[in-house]
Amino acid sequence: MPRRTLIAGNWKMHGLQADLGFFAEIADAASASAAEILVCPPSTLLHAAAGACRGTAVRLGGQDCHADTAGAHTGDISAQMLRDAGAGYVIVGHSERRADHGETDAIVRAKAEAAMAAGLTPIVCIGETREQRERGEAADIVSRQLSGSLPTKANGTTAVIAYEPVWAIGTGLTASQDDVAEMHATIRAQLDDFTAFRILYGGSVKPANAAALLALTDVDGALVGGASLESSDFRAIVAAAGCMTAQAR
Ligand code: PGA
Repeated sequence: MPRRTLIAGNWKMHGLQADLGFFAEIADAASASAAEILVCPPSTLLHAAAGACRGTAVRLGGQDCHADTAGAHTGDISAQMLRDAGAGYVIVGHSERRADHGETDAIVRAKAEAAMAAGLTPIVCIGETREQRERGEAADIVSRQLSGSLPTKANGTTAVIAYEPVWAIGTGLTASQDDVAEMHATIRAQLDDFTAFRILYGGSVKPANAAALLALTDVDGALVGGASLESSDFRAIVAAAGCMTAQAR
């Protein structure tokens, strides 16, 4: 089965009710695209965004979930709650959560398992820091994060992987096409269900570089931060994905 390109927007801690017009602005681009289009707004907007997306091709996801189904965890949100609010996906193990909240691979895996149990597709994020890359450890680090964070029972239909070099996130720097191609091939080679998994690239994906990154063999989509906040930028990335989907897949 060919892997369907996934373009996922990660709004991070941005977005108010006044920004919900975004969904109408991307709806036609999403339905014209052969790619799957996903937006992960803050959880406060999920329910209203679900209303704004009804009848469109735009899917919704959360940005994190707790590993437990319910309980005394003030401020946290369960996978089931995200699903109830309209999400079909959830990002887990984003490097900002690993750094800001001390999330380990074991925690990320538990979150991904909770997501799958609730019927959500986890997008499991992995990626090396600049120092790790400079020391020549990038492949080892990513490979260790992958084996520690991805649930053993995950497969290409129940989970997605996102490779996001930490130094490329929000910095305007992107990994070179050769480095992205090499890392994605390394990740794919490590997967049991290796032909089926979608592996997204993330880190300063913009309208100007999206087509080239998405054209790489083992790149099955993009996780887009900053450029998912402006509907014109996100539409341009969706359009680039549509071209690649038609040509290459
Ligand atoms: P960026 O963020 O596109 O702003 O670099 C990507 C991400 O953090 O997922």
